[in-house]
Amino acid sequence: MVQATDPPDLRSAHVIVVGNEKGGTGKSTLSIHIAIALLKAGYHVASIDLDTRQRTLTRFLENRQSWGANARRAIELPFHHALERGGKDSASENEIVEFTSFAEAIARVEHAYEFVVIDTPASDSYLMRLAHSLADTLVTPMNDSFIDVDVLARVHNDRRERGATAQYAALVLEARRQRRLADAGLIDWVVVRNRMASLASHNQRQVAGSLGRLSPELQFRMAEGFGDRVIFRELFPVGLTVLDSIEEVTDRGALSASQMTARSEVEALIGNLRLPCRTAELPHMQARHLWFEKTQAFYQELISKGSAEPV
Ligand SMILES: Nc1ncnc2c1ncn2[C@@H]1O[C@H](COP(=O)(O)OP(=O)(O)OP(=O)(O)O)[C@@H](O)[C@H]1O
Ligand SMILES: [Mg+2]
Repeated sequence: MVQATDPPDLRSAHVIVVGNEKGGTGKSTLSIHIAIALLKAGYHVASIDLDTRQRTLTRFLENRQSWGANARRAIELPFHHALERGGKDSASENEIVEFTSFAEAIARVEHAYEFVVIDTPASDSYLMRLAHSLADTLVTPMNDSFIDVDVLARVHNDRRERGATAQYAALVLEARRQRRLADAGLIDWVVVRNRMASLASHNQRQVAGSLGRLSPELQFRMAEGFGDRVIFRELFPVGLTVLDSIEEVTDRGALSASQMTARSEVEALIGNLRLPCRTAELPHMQARHLWFEKTQAFYQELISKGSAEPV
């Protein structure tokens, strides 16, 4: 249960973990856009790639660096740490190597940056669970499909009936428990619908209804993500995002309507994440404490609307 507690001893870095045990839902795409959007807003941002196999975030940032060098442009880049694969014979030895590398990465950034964005792999591992327990904001992208809902709660024939808590939601609930024990912190869990079709369908409404019913029980909130747009795919090789001056690299020389909508979708998502935002009057650490108070109040309200037995 998210309880009223004294504010925890907050680190400077607000940790944003992008996770979902289901593969291909848009974790890396969201990690990329969140990190670049925060850099463009002037924050000190670090990023960590926990996906030692695919290294999508790392590959994107390498492409971005090359683009900047070739174009002789100063382009925003986070301080990045890519976790290396253990490379040992036994799984337990690999776990120790990877844990040590992750712990070092966190120690290097937690007091030096305002935001840390962590992209995670789709597989369940000790490290992935540990990363979830460090999240202040956990972003879970999902496609509009009951297959994706099924990792949160089992979907039955009668889709209005609540199924048993499924593996990924159980993982998040345990991460929350660990986090409370560790530093009395809380995790703002935001389920983001990604690759939304432009035309609302019956399926889309049903999935939205299902998530709406689960939200107070599992204590997550929902946010609209990105539409299914080619522009979110095609900029990867040049290391750019829709927030960059892509007019220069696209053939048309000007943004299309869809590209402009894509840009607004990224901006809207950043707003909907309700991250701690410093201003001239509000320094970063005060914004972090205010975020904690507001987030705690939000979940207390959500619990009062939801299950009698809070998680
Ligand atoms: N909003 C979107 N519009 C169009 N394509 C998208 C969108 N979001 C993601 N994609 C595409 O979907 C695929 C999966 O996205 P991505 O790699 O970000 O997912 P992931 O959750 O990180 O996958 P994995 O679990 O393998 O790490 C990629 O080809 C990506 O370009
Ligand atoms: Mg990925």
